[in-house]
Formats: sequence, C-alpha cells, structure tokens
Amino acid sequence: MSKTYKVTLQPSGEVVEVEEGKNLLVALREQNIYIKSSCGGHATCTDCIIKIVSGEDYITPPPFSELKLLGNVFHITKERLACQTCLTGDVTIDITKHDRVSDEAKLKNKTSNFSKKKQHIKIRKEPDIKKIRSERADERAKEAIENLSKAEVWKKHWEKNPDADTSNAPKSLAGGKRPKFFDTDKVDYEKNDYTRPLSAEKQKLRDERLETEKLKAENDKKIIASDKEYKKFRE
Ligand code: FES
Repeated sequence: MSKTYKVTLQPSGEVVEVEEGKNLLVALREQNIYIKSSCGGHATCTDCIIKIVSGEDYITPPPFSELKLLGNVFHITKERLACQTCLTGDVTIDITKHDRVSDEAKLKNKTSNFSKKKQHIKIRKEPDIKKIRSERADERAKEAIENLSKAEVWKKHWEKNPDADTSNAPKSLAGGKRPKFFDTDKVDYEKNDYTRPLSAEKQKLRDERLETEKLKAENDKKIIASDKEYKKFRE
C-alpha cells in the first residue's frame, strides 16, 4: 500500500490524508473538498492555485507547464497549482479562495445574465420576413427605373445639344481622372524590358548572360541524356 501524508487545510483546520503520487486537486476532490478548476487539471487555467503555508520541502517541484503559468516565483508567493503538486511529506495549505458557494453563485449569475440578454434578441416571424423582402424588392425596382431614366439623359448628351445647360445632368461614374504619369526612369530595362536601346556596356552584359544561360541549358541536356544511357546500361 502506498504511503499517505497529512494535509492540514486552512482556514478550516481540517486534516486529511493524501496518497503519495496523487496530485492535490484529485486527492482533495476525492474527499469532497472543493478546489476550483476549469481545465480539468491540465495546467492551463490557474484556477486551482493554493498557498503552501508550511512543509514546502515536502512537495514535488513545479513542472514546466506550471512554470509557464506562474513563473519561477514560488519562493515569494508560496503559490502552487494543486493539479501539479504531489506530496513527499506532511503540509499545511491555504484554500481560502476556493469557495464552492460563491463560485456556484457566480456561475448562476453568468447563466441568468445570458438568458436575460437572449430576451432582447428580436426573432422575426415568417410573414414579417416576407413583408420586409417585398418592400426591399419594390425599393430596388424603383431605384433601377430612376437610374435608367438618368442614363438616358446622360447618354451622348454632348451630341444632342452642345450648348445645353449640363449642370443638372447626372454625373458619369469613374470619369474626370487624369491618367497617372508613367515614370520610365524606374523601369528596369536590363531585366525584362528591351523596348529601349541599351547602352553598349549593358548590351554586352546582356549578351554574355544569354550566352551563359544557353551553355548551361545545353550542358543540362547532355547530363540528362547520359543519365538515361547509364540507366539503360544498368538494366
Ligand atoms: S486545474 Fe487548471 S491549472 Fe490546475
């Protein structure tokens, strides 16, 4: 049978026995002592923090997952995650902040707040939806007819009457913008654009590069061919 150690709980002063190798969260819960937890003991929520009042030499060291959450500051805070702490001797721990009644009340509050919010959500019935849809369709049809008539007025209006007052005519879309100045100095002619004659020096460089590429391509072809021959020979 495995060893057991005494755990004195503060503030109640109750003393319970905990088996060696069993973490405090599991061991205390088994004895119906409430320790808060949201992650189920996977060292991700920090809800199960307890304070070691005495016997700090009789607890297992914090694993990496606990250090990631709490940092390496146990010597200052004396706090540990119950789900990551096992015992090697008798200890006293403080579980004041683990209050089942207040936690349950908070949870209830949260749930009831949610159902109150739910009451304000407007749920439309089928006839309402149909009515709204038909109203929107009417609006769209009206708008389309208006746009059509505007287009007719605008179409080739300059030919119809060049002297007409166009101040009330609908504006054409996407017009009135000058084309942007195209800065030819920024074009890299050496790389990909040969529409402008190159200087003698650049022309020479380009010819050299093309020659090297050609030689490389020929060489690659030869290597592939010799590979094929070698494979045939092996077969
Ligand atoms: S139970 Fe979540 S960190 Fe311990």
